[in-house]
Amino acid sequence: MELMHSDTIFISNLTLLNSPAWNIHPVYSSNIVVQGVTILAPTHSPNTDGINPDSCSHVRIEDCYIVSGDDCVAIKSGWDEYGIAYAMPSQHIVVRRLTCVSPTSAVIALGSEMSGGIQDVRAEDIVAVDSESGVRIKTAVGRGAYVKDVFVRGMTLTTMKWVFWMTGNYKSHPDDKYDPNAVPVVENISYQDVVATGVTTAARLEGIQGAPFKGICIANVTATLTKSRKYPWTCTDVEGVSSADVTPAPCQPLQGAHDGACPFPTDTLPIDQLTLQQCAYDVPVPGTGTGSGGN
Ligand SMILES: *[C@@H]1O[C@H](CO)[C@@H](O)[C@H](O)[C@H]1NC(C)=O
Ligand SMILES: *[C@@H]1O[C@H](CO)[C@@H](O)[C@H](O)[C@H]1NC(C)=O
Ligand SMILES: *[C@@H]1O[C@H](CO)[C@@H](O)[C@H](O)[C@H]1NC(C)=O
Repeated sequence: MELMHSDTIFISNLTLLNSPAWNIHPVYSSNIVVQGVTILAPTHSPNTDGINPDSCSHVRIEDCYIVSGDDCVAIKSGWDEYGIAYAMPSQHIVVRRLTCVSPTSAVIALGSEMSGGIQDVRAEDIVAVDSESGVRIKTAVGRGAYVKDVFVRGMTLTTMKWVFWMTGNYKSHPDDKYDPNAVPVVENISYQDVVATGVTTAARLEGIQGAPFKGICIANVTATLTKSRKYPWTCTDVEGVSSADVTPAPCQPLQGAHDGACPFPTDTLPIDQLTLQQCAYDVPVPGTGTGSGGN
């Protein structure tokens, strides 16, 4: 389902089976609710992302169950010089009560196409089984723009290669005309209240040399590894803080002390108030001239 330049769309209670590519792709749109949707794709099928808000504002994705060969939810906003020129961010996005199976990809991905910017993403109550990574930020030099104000709270993950994964050198460009000076900014990323078991490596965080990913906050995370590792977190070019209740202990660049919870916005977004209007109409009853009151 690809919706372009649309406003106020409610997609609910559908099952989408074996799509050959992305399943739900709202692009250049706003006020989108995707609720109670089941998406099933073979777990080794390529590019079968579940739900991809792409240069969209005010999106609410809730109570969805997704089995995919690619990312369950991937937030995007245009690719390199084309996305920079179009400059339409994805912002004010809520994802809650998502259940995901994605053995070769992320439960929630940000990017890799993010050249219009991604800002204000709030994810809560996420459950995943047999997925490659929990939250993944993918970007590269040439993308420009930013990924900022990302808040994730409450994930229960079972069997996972990396709970957190950030990639600053995602090498895929539309062509060779990308701007090598278009360096993306990644900042203000909060992850908390995560329980993960069957984990290979807690995190693999790779920022960009000279443009580190900043303002990372990690709190209340327990990752139980399948076997003990010398470096359960691997980090380069990232900066941030963590609280004492993160196990295994994070890498040194994230060991700035932090007390209590990481930031999570307390305001309610207008998209949370969007409800589906029910249509009602009178069914004429033959011979009586009156309606039955059906709706
Ligand atoms: C979707 O299904 C749920 C559960 O049956 C129901 O409560 C809800 O009203 C349905 N949503 C719509 C928009 O029909
Ligand atoms: C990070 O997000 C919080 C919560 O929305 C906001 O108050 C703060 O200003 C942001 N910090 C930066 C550096 O953007
Ligand atoms: C830590 O996370 C767990 C799992 O989400 C939650 O039950 C618990 O209340 C959290 N603890 C704190 C101190 O927030």
